[in-house]
Amino acid sequence: MVDFRAKFVLAPMVRVGELPTRLLALKYGADLVWGPEIIDKRLVRAERVFNPKLNTVDFIQKDGNKKIPGTTDLVFRTYRKLEQDKLIFQLGTANPDLAVQAAKIVAADVDGIDVNAGCPKHFSVHSGMGAALLKTPDLLCDILVALVEHVGVPFKKPISVKIRLLAEEENTLQLVRRLVKTGIKNLTVHCRTREMRNGQDPIRDYVDKIKEICTEAGVSMIINGGVKSYQEYRDLQKMFGDDVGCMIASKAEVNPTIFNASGPLPWPLMVKEYVRFAAQVNNSNTNTKYCLATMMPNPRGKNVICRLVSQSKKIEEVVDAVLNKMDDEGAFIGDKSSAPGDDVKIEN
Ligand code: FNR
Repeated sequence: MVDFRAKFVLAPMVRVGELPTRLLALKYGADLVWGPEIIDKRLVRAERVFNPKLNTVDFIQKDGNKKIPGTTDLVFRTYRKLEQDKLIFQLGTANPDLAVQAAKIVAADVDGIDVNAGCPKHFSVHSGMGAALLKTPDLLCDILVALVEHVGVPFKKPISVKIRLLAEEENTLQLVRRLVKTGIKNLTVHCRTREMRNGQDPIRDYVDKIKEICTEAGVSMIINGGVKSYQEYRDLQKMFGDDVGCMIASKAEVNPTIFNASGPLPWPLMVKEYVRFAAQVNNSNTNTKYCLATMMPNPRGKNVICRLVSQSKKIEEVVDAVLNKMDDEGAFIGDKSSAPGDDVKIEN
């Protein structure tokens, strides 16, 4: 079973945390990776399919079901060869029965199930999920207890939860005292309140108190919010104990190699590696382009490679632009070749 103690991990990120980002983060030092939040209702409509071409396990929305607008048929994809023992699946839920039903579908192919109790976005909170669960602690605890009993124990997979801080310290500590009694193995704390933006400094004033409650209950703790580097992860361990973990989102969205102990790769090299992984696992071109738009600097909209990527219709064109037409400093080097990147095998 996954041990979360002292781990340096990739945060759950809708859209951003698809397979290529996770593989890149793992290659450059992430100990564990969270998948993007997936809503229980979507997962229960999915069926598990082994993809022999890619060697991946795919969860695909079954035919005949009404699709949720803005989603594709592929709900989730994992490459077990590289993600084994490292992949935490994050569930969006506000219902213990649905949570269990959904988690059972993926439990055998992931290494832990995490409940999102921190997302403040409208699409989450309007249906009682994400940060809304912080206001319904009975429901949140019911969900966790149900998952522990019906998924955690039979599948031997850890159940965990990710929360934000409440406005008052004492209320947060009270919530944590309840959560650690549900049977969860790990608590991730985004050290900002629901009202705070990601750019704001995190509040770490009472992390030590949260950590103490977790430690007494035998639950590990991961600190999230504003962590910028490997060095900061180490510094936080010096402050709060060697067994504390750290989770990065925003900095990993820009550069998933941020976990590297000797510093992240320069962006052009990182982007090349990202595109290789995207091609290897046949990532959707829409998602690849979305992620690259954050990873590649585009001052005044003048970056030619960015333009080629954004105009691309298929992954082959992205591969050609990034691997054949961009040098290792990120400069455009013209039409060296019209063939896809020499060393890249594209599976369709
Ligand atoms: C997020 N976050 C998030 N949180 C979560 O629990 N489930 C999710 O699916 C997402 N999706 C998501 C997408 C993107 C693009 C970002 C930037 C963030 C929140 C994230 O996991 C993390 O808690 C915060 O971003 C704080 O960490 P950083 O950014 O300060 O390192």
